[in-house]
Amino acid sequence: MATESPATRRVQVAEHPRLLKLKEMFNSKFGSIPKFYVRAPGRVNLIGEHVDYCGYSVLPMAVEQDLLIAVEPVKTCTLQLANTNPLYPDFSTSATTIQIDKTKPLWHNYFLCGLKGIQEHFGLSNLTGMNCLVDGNIPPSSGLSSSSALVCCAGLVTLTVLGMNLSKVELAEICAKSERYIGTEGGGMDQSISFLAEEGTAKLIEFSPLRATNVNLPSGAVFVIANSCVEMNKAATSHFNIRVMECRLAAKLLAKYKSLQWDKVLQLEEVQAKLGISLEEMLLVTEDALHPEPYSPEEICRCLGITLEELRTQILSPNTHDVLIFKLYQRAKHVYSEAARVLQFKKICEEAPENTVQLLGELMNQSHMSCRDMYECSCPELDQLVDICRKFGAEGSRLTGAGWGGCTVSIVAVDNLTSFLANVHKAYYQRIDGSLAPEKHSLFATKPGGGALVFLEA
Ligand code: GLA
Repeated sequence: MATESPATRRVQVAEHPRLLKLKEMFNSKFGSIPKFYVRAPGRVNLIGEHVDYCGYSVLPMAVEQDLLIAVEPVKTCTLQLANTNPLYPDFSTSATTIQIDKTKPLWHNYFLCGLKGIQEHFGLSNLTGMNCLVDGNIPPSSGLSSSSALVCCAGLVTLTVLGMNLSKVELAEICAKSERYIGTEGGGMDQSISFLAEEGTAKLIEFSPLRATNVNLPSGAVFVIANSCVEMNKAATSHFNIRVMECRLAAKLLAKYKSLQWDKVLQLEEVQAKLGISLEEMLLVTEDALHPEPYSPEEICRCLGITLEELRTQILSPNTHDVLIFKLYQRAKHVYSEAARVLQFKKICEEAPENTVQLLGELMNQSHMSCRDMYECSCPELDQLVDICRKFGAEGSRLTGAGWGGCTVSIVAVDNLTSFLANVHKAYYQRIDGSLAPEKHSLFATKPGGGALVFLEA
């Protein structure tokens, strides 16, 4: 598993309407036929929100919606990118140094992240020349990881053009790192599941070292995704990075409180590992060591014995330099309790007691509450959607992905699915004006899909 590479599948393009359409559009755009195609899926996280960058495991599955890229390698060091969606303008470059503008999360920058990650891995300085046409059906800015799917797809495209080989794990690690060129300090969940997903199973993703374990979901229930239709692009605001920094600061203060060497500590998990205690015990340590009132930068400096300048330049990311309030207690409480819920979720799936669906639902409800109250990454529309889903029969419902907008995921007994979909549609979507995303992207049941692949025309 750890050394396995993404599969290459031979297909009759004519038998796959989406590939065929892409091939024809590619031909009219570039006047040639693609050499190969790559797909990388989006994902839904079932539980374990905002814990990956703290070192804790997450439990996502790939969705069937994906990013598809038709590719033709070219001899010149020129990259030409086009998108089937006219909202995303063409882009081309011959520059050998790939510039990624952190101030504007433009679509092609995500492609450049994947490309740059692979080029750097192999120490290549010349731009990998290619013509690419991108086609995506993951609703953007909806918490289903459309941007990471593009980074991963671009990484696998570049690898294939170069004729090199890497394992899925290596690809996931490279793409997780290179997506940070866009300016967000994300964890590795999205890229890992995009490469390591397998049809029919969710995955427990663990980090350092990265590995994925199958988690078989109960057969009596389905997971339903519903889009709040509030768009959230985590690279366009500082919400996401502020949370990452709050967790980093909480880890340092906890380590200092416990007389550990705190300056090298970056993740809340490291504190737990160094103390060798349980997550439940970490919650008690958090209560002793931190206070619920927000911390000012000055108080943090006093606690750590550093200057404001050192805090800004050595600990905080560039877009969080001017933050004046850090809620360390609440963020650490969320992370340690959420990390414990992930393990409980997996255990329940394995043991499969009679009330499995109800127990999983309860954990999902607790997760949403913690995201809403302790992590403050929800929004009124998501809270309302979660309430509606529960009212119409979901055993549990929660926001999924970074939050502040995007989708919810609900666990629904198979027997209730039809009425659930009809009622939620009526209660949430029919009530608002016609400006919402197309209905099929707004509310749908999903099954665990497969990971990134290369397609060759048979
Ligand atoms: C984004 C990040 C992930 C993860 C989630 C929140 O999707 O890219 O790494 O942190 O938010 O769980």
